Amino acid sequence: MREPDSFGEPALKALFAGDFHIGAAVNPRTMKTQEQLLRHHFNSITAENEMKFESLHPLEEVYRFGAADELVSFARKHKLAMRGHTLVWHNQTSDWLFQDGHGASVSKEVLLDRLKSHINTVVGRYKNDIYAWDVVNEAVADEGEALLRRSKWLDIAGDGFIAKAFEFAHEADPGALLFYNDYNESNPLKRDKIYTLLKSLLDQGVPVHGVGLQAHWNLYDPSLDEIRTAIEKYASLGLTLQLTELDMSLFRFDDRRTDLKEPPAELLELQAERYAAVFKLLREYKDVISAVTFWGAADDYTWLDHFPVHGRKNWPFLFDEQHRPKAAFDRLLQE
Ligand code: GLA
Repeated sequence: MREPDSFGEPALKALFAGDFHIGAAVNPRTMKTQEQLLRHHFNSITAENEMKFESLHPLEEVYRFGAADELVSFARKHKLAMRGHTLVWHNQTSDWLFQDGHGASVSKEVLLDRLKSHINTVVGRYKNDIYAWDVVNEAVADEGEALLRRSKWLDIAGDGFIAKAFEFAHEADPGALLFYNDYNESNPLKRDKIYTLLKSLLDQGVPVHGVGLQAHWNLYDPSLDEIRTAIEKYASLGLTLQLTELDMSLFRFDDRRTDLKEPPAELLELQAERYAAVFKLLREYKDVISAVTFWGAADDYTWLDHFPVHGRKNWPFLFDEQHRPKAAFDRLLQE
């Protein structure tokens, strides 16, 4: 691993200082193992898992804030902006929320009351530290005609749960920027559905301020044109945009190459070209994009090592396993 005093290269956050925040998802372990890298190159963080419903609120009467608080203190100590992630999602959400004492589904009223209480507690607690929240994560259906994905939220509360979540969050912290966050956000079909959802929320006067483009991308998809069209379409709603979970996988989604121990040089070169092209495009839209957050910070830790192909090592970031700048970082320096 690099020595703490070896971070001589210009900081990524400085390269984009006039453009947008540069963020990383962190957890209590990477907060330590990647501390120097985070402090040198980034000016924003997001909790990888620690603010998800099941992490914070495992039982109705029990909140566990320990890990989330540690990340908040880290952000405070090092003067990093912090995004909150996430209040309403179909994954990593405790079962008790949707059930009564006998395991039967609760009513819409009970579910929304519980949601309100959760949001009040969590958003209220971090009011002075978290400037933006992913209020609703991944509610839109990837395929087919339906706008929204099937979920317990939708089954029990109907489509109004989305507006309610934003209203509760706005009440809990009127100063926070509230985001709708989703993946496949540049895919034309999904993009248009996300747009339809956001437009309808805005038409109803729901306090939604931004759209999070997760940006789990790879060397080949989505195309730059698709990214550009998505940005323009969301921006046409007058919303702020943030890339919230950027990583640039070296592989297509279903590539089953699990034998690689080192990243092939030609793929790193493609990755450098791709990152340069993507950041050039993002910079064109700096007036509407306020942050670009990676879903990690360096190649020693990425969820892509286990997903979607278990055991397929990936190298999706600008920094290598030793936290040294990769070709992609050098290319950004030359832009
Ligand atoms: C989604 C979620 C994130 C994270 C990633 C995978 O994109 O929004 O919180 O769980 O999946 O790590």
